[in-house]
Amino acid sequence: MIKVSNLEAGYGPVRAVRGVSINVGKGELVTVLGANGAGKSSLLLTIAGALKPTGGQVHLDGIDVTGSSPERMVRRGVSMVPETRDVFPDLTVAENLRLGAYIRRSKIDIVRADLEKMYALFPRLQERVDQAAGTLSGGEQQMLVIARAMMADPKVLLLDEPSLGLAPNLVDQIFDMIVELKTTGLSILLVEQNASKALQIADRAYVLRLGEIAAEGSAAEIAEASDLHAMYLGG
Ligand SMILES: Nc1ncnc2c1ncn2[C@@H]1O[C@H](COP(=O)(O)OP(=O)(O)OP(=O)(O)O)[C@@H](O)[C@H]1O
Ligand SMILES: [Mg+2]
Repeated sequence: MIKVSNLEAGYGPVRAVRGVSINVGKGELVTVLGANGAGKSSLLLTIAGALKPTGGQVHLDGIDVTGSSPERMVRRGVSMVPETRDVFPDLTVAENLRLGAYIRRSKIDIVRADLEKMYALFPRLQERVDQAAGTLSGGEQQMLVIARAMMADPKVLLLDEPSLGLAPNLVDQIFDMIVELKTTGLSILLVEQNASKALQIADRAYVLRLGEIAAEGSAAEIAEASDLHAMYLGG
């Protein structure tokens, strides 16, 4: 579905992504692990079109989409939930979700049906449809940005540290929802520092270190490689 080859990206002299090659198959849940500053967010931003690559390629369904704008990537079916969790604070939950569907230009009843699907998946959002998004708890805002990204009807969902800063029971809920989303055939690339949790739900994993892939394998293989944790994942 997504194939990244020898990708290079950075910020001026900072080479944040160094020759990274990864792939995510249809309906596959792949996690990218790594310590702070490893380049995880930069990798996702480059795939999503928000950071221009200085080398390498991104293919989506066999089509070269390297360097496409973020808007084009969303239209092509790649949605990203950034680390920053930015909701439109003064808009309601329902308005935030409708904005997620804006780019689709779909018929209103299709959008409404998808909205109902999101409310079924995230009942906490349904209970708060008319609440200003800025007044939601951190966990609820995280649910909202994931649901909003899903309203674009993506084929590939890029998630940047969805568990960051959440209480353990909310972390479990978010991970359950990611598993639920996967059952619809969606391809998911999940960036996490919470390695043990991510490896429990992922099919495959890559370990990023200083912008490079330091290890890759099935989630079980990576989970068993305890030396990897000591060296690259901080524990
Ligand atoms: N806007 C920027 N300008 C300059 N350097 C940046 C910028 N954003 C990130 N970097 C640098 O790029 C490298 C990779 O950062 P990145 O945010 O991709 O790491 P990360 O793995 O997502 O880390 P974290 O786990 O802390 O989110 C770091 O050395 C960082 O300092
Ligand atoms: Mg990051």
